Amino acid sequence: MKILIVGNGARESAIAMKLKSDRRISKMYFAKGNATTDLLGQNVYEDSIEGLRDFAIKERIDLTIVGPEAPLVAGIVDEFKKHNLKIFGPRKRTAELEGSKAFSKKFMQTHNIKTAKAVVFDAYQSAINYVREQQFPIVIKASGLAGGKGVVIADDLAEAESTIHKFMIERIYGDAGIQLVIEEYLRGFETSIIAFSNGTKLFPCIPVKDYKKAGNGDMGPNTGGMGSVAPSPEFTEEHQRDFEENILKPTLEGLHSYKINFKGFIFFGLMVTGNGTYLLEYNMRLGDPETQVIMALLENNLYDVIMDCLEGNDIELKFRDEKAVCLVMCSGGYPRQIETGFEIRNIDKISHSEVLFAGAQMRGNKTVTSGGRVLSLVATGETYDEACKKVYADANIIHYDYEYYREDIGKF
Ligand code: AMP
Ligand code: GLY
Repeated sequence: MKILIVGNGARESAIAMKLKSDRRISKMYFAKGNATTDLLGQNVYEDSIEGLRDFAIKERIDLTIVGPEAPLVAGIVDEFKKHNLKIFGPRKRTAELEGSKAFSKKFMQTHNIKTAKAVVFDAYQSAINYVREQQFPIVIKASGLAGGKGVVIADDLAEAESTIHKFMIERIYGDAGIQLVIEEYLRGFETSIIAFSNGTKLFPCIPVKDYKKAGNGDMGPNTGGMGSVAPSPEFTEEHQRDFEENILKPTLEGLHSYKINFKGFIFFGLMVTGNGTYLLEYNMRLGDPETQVIMALLENNLYDVIMDCLEGNDIELKFRDEKAVCLVMCSGGYPRQIETGFEIRNIDKISHSEVLFAGAQMRGNKTVTSGGRVLSLVATGETYDEACKKVYADANIIHYDYEYYREDIGKF
């Protein structure tokens, strides 16, 4: 069995680590991969959909798993299916639930999914007129993909007006800002729930806490994720019931009513307030760094559950009754200006956690930094404290120039 994994983050490293001991898999390819995947299989420097399709045909790939959103939104699944290539993920039309916040908000509203009140705007002046009547803070979202930067929480009218101008007139994120979603600000804590879809049903994984801000105590700018913990310690059974009843169930009904029977992952970005669990967004893929802790606790064989979903079979997900913590080590300055190309030292000296590389590449026999999020350290334990001590013990041993990580991941 040959597998192709699209993506190059620690998420894709975690998928690869989970699959590596499966004896049915003879070879794994990664496009474009990183220092971890370089050791587990072959990195392929191809990123166009046509190039990946041709590669999958030529190498007779049996299964393709897609990590990031961009190829899904660009239609990689449609293209692969046209050529009878097996691929796990939503078609372009379904990926719009992530690719267009206007579409996903309308989907949520149509199907009575519990979400923040919002209005969609196509015209600059109506957006401006609307915010002039609102209370602050208010949340302004570019509808299209903007690399995680298209959401601004405006504290006052001046910030709201300038954000609308930047998104719609200056087009700082290009076409992503043609439409805006302006929504009510919800105060609470966030939780991520990722579910497998087999075309007719959704099978949710354990809830995960993701640390989005760059600095300790959730200070500083938003990032792609500085760490994660599973199961989320704040998310109670009552929050889970609220999620299942008011978000999961109507989402499935909505998918059925749109005749969407996709096989892939669906990620629910949740905000839990005093009034319960709200859906902020869908991602039509696995999350990063959520995947790192989910894979650490997932008992099922990943290849089997994916194949079962592709065949439309029901699955029963099982998770170890332990805690998992993922600490992301970055290049200093991330998510803004960074410098890369520095050797990562002492990787062979760590013993408590698993290293999953992201922005790191092999250069000869050295591993060097090549991106903002350099690597994830993942450990499990009976308690959060135990798992947390393991990742920090190893973070103290690994060194490279300008290393940076948060000090408070998994500490409660
Ligand atoms: P989104 O891409 O829609 O999930 O938004 C990115 C981030 O912005 C979320 O993870 C939240 O931290 C924040 N956010 C989005 N919508 C809201 C909201 N309605 N209220 C408060 N924070 C929000
Ligand atoms: N951790 C959030 C995401 O993957 O989008």
